[in-house]
Amino acid sequence: MSEHAEIILEGKSYKFPVVTGTENEKAIDIAALRSESGYITLDSGYKNTGATKSAITFLDGEQGILHYRGYPIEQLAEKSNFVEVAYLLIYGALPTAQELEDFSGKIKMHTLVNEDMRKILDGFPSTAHPMGILSAMISSLTAFYPESLNPNQSKEEVDLSIIRLMAKISTIAAWSYKNSVGHPVNYPKNKLDYCSNFLHMMFAFPTEDYEINPVVVDAINKLLILHADHEQNCSTSTVRLVGSANASLYSSVSAGISALWGPLHGGANQAVIEMLEQIKADGGDSKKFIAKAKDKDDPFRLMGFGHRVYKNFDPRARIIKKAADEVLTALGINDPILTIAMELEEAALNDPYFVERKLYPNVDFYSGIIYRALGIPTDMFTVMFALGRLPGWIAQWKEMREQKEPIGRPRQIYTGETERNYVDIEKR
Ligand code: ACO
Repeated sequence: MSEHAEIILEGKSYKFPVVTGTENEKAIDIAALRSESGYITLDSGYKNTGATKSAITFLDGEQGILHYRGYPIEQLAEKSNFVEVAYLLIYGALPTAQELEDFSGKIKMHTLVNEDMRKILDGFPSTAHPMGILSAMISSLTAFYPESLNPNQSKEEVDLSIIRLMAKISTIAAWSYKNSVGHPVNYPKNKLDYCSNFLHMMFAFPTEDYEINPVVVDAINKLLILHADHEQNCSTSTVRLVGSANASLYSSVSAGISALWGPLHGGANQAVIEMLEQIKADGGDSKKFIAKAKDKDDPFRLMGFGHRVYKNFDPRARIIKKAADEVLTALGINDPILTIAMELEEAALNDPYFVERKLYPNVDFYSGIIYRALGIPTDMFTVMFALGRLPGWIAQWKEMREQKEPIGRPRQIYTGETERNYVDIEKR
């Protein structure tokens, strides 16, 4: 064994191979630890656990680097569009012009959803959060395409499920919004590109067409690209874990949507705007809220700050901040929330509490501000994140299947009672 790690337990030495990634990240392969020594590793929150080998996304949290299939996020955000990035993530290479046309054409052909799905939508009260609707409706695709439940689907069948999901999610997402405001849904217009079509379904009325604004379309493309994958985060790990039980693509992604909904994950973009609104309503004193965030007896956290892996800066936040400035200028919007956001950022970046803990603004700190400027309602922010993250979830699910990964099943250290005898109810 060349490079290896040695673990000494109860005086006995065990050797484990070192695994090195293409960007020189290192891991100790401890798969044999338990069978050889009886020990497991304990790592609550998987803070230091590699769950898979993956060739999709590279991220260096210390350097603030993010690559999709080797391409820097800055280049993709500037030069590409969302459908092209989706192809790149799912199939591993930038498409040729013909491949992109085919992929995009197939997605357009599948944007309609079965009319019976409208009956499911109608069953939700208007108070339903669009993320709950999205998760349920994506899971219900299994009812309309039961062949997707077969874990031995051919490559062509899997590709069809992928296309259907990419196509229908934006229709379902826009319909979940229309349901929440009690308006009739809009059907897709397939002459439009992916992002314009989504905007049309969100904002057109039976009485009025939606005028496509290229500034808005460009911003949506950028936001979706920036959210498209982020390696083994909470929702993606959920997708891989659920999928590892041979669950269908639709069920696995539905579970990922539920994970993303949490305010510590994708739900943070909604929470950021709600926090900024709260600060504004309270008189706009950002210092007071910085103090609250630092107070360990106060549950308040600065939403949009901190990240499990970025301990330098979040490269997506930098791109989004610039895009937010451009969008607000182009649309002539002067949002007082932005002033509070900038004050908060400035104050936090100069405060030892945040500096010592390496708490920087993350992608969600500025995305909510752009979504708001684009007219996207607050409770749709996390749905926008889900639209963006979909190609990443698909790529990770597909890779997990192609690598024939075993069912995910962590272990535990039991801390409960040791064996004891049942006590009859009258004697307790
Ligand atoms: N405000 C105040 N203090 C914070 C914050 C925050 N936003 N984030 C972390 N801290 C503090 C913690 O209290 C802890 O302090 P301590 O060492 O004195 O106990 C320290 O910083 C480390 O924080 P952890 O919670 O241990 O870090 P973890 O990696 O587990 O959590 C997380 C990361 C969940 C993102 C956290 O920073 C957070 O809650 N941020 C706010 C929510 C948010 O913006 N989520 C979006 C993340 S990006 C995404 O999912 C797309």
